[in-house]
Amino acid sequence: MRTLILYSSKYGFTEKVAKRLGEHMDNDVVLKNCTKDFSIDLTKFDNVIIGSSIYVGKPSVTVLDFCESYQRLLMNKKLASLLQASVRKRPRVLSMRTFQKTL
Ligand SMILES: Cc1cc2nc3c(=O)[nH]c(=O)nc-3n(C[C@H](O)[C@H](O)[C@H](O)COP(=O)(O)O)c2cc1C
Repeated sequence: MRTLILYSSKYGFTEKVAKRLGEHMDNDVVLKNCTKDFSIDLTKFDNVIIGSSIYVGKPSVTVLDFCESYQRLLMNKKLASLLQASVRKRPRVLSMRTFQKTL
């Protein structure tokens, strides 16, 4: 089972969590920072974990663009999301809704 952890990170917090998560997974893991470029061959992966920090209630635009561009392929994968945010409840709920709507 191959897992892709694709993430966007502005100040490095999401990157840190994504790397830590990768270290704790048993299967073959590839990490990709999509902040500059999200092109990737998704056919090589069984599982995809999508990571983003939250700014003003929304996940990264690059991550949302990735979800939209690869929507059809992503629907055939086991998916999980990693949202890196502060502790305020309402923005996090809003972020999840934005994320789910895009997928
Ligand atoms: C300008 C600014 C806006 C933010 N907006 C939100 C927000 O709306 N909701 C939230 O939960 N966290 C918000 N945060 C917190 C960030 O999501 C959090 O610091 C995150 O760990 C940053 O991760 P990164 O370094 O990977 O980009 C904001 C942070 C900044 C600096």
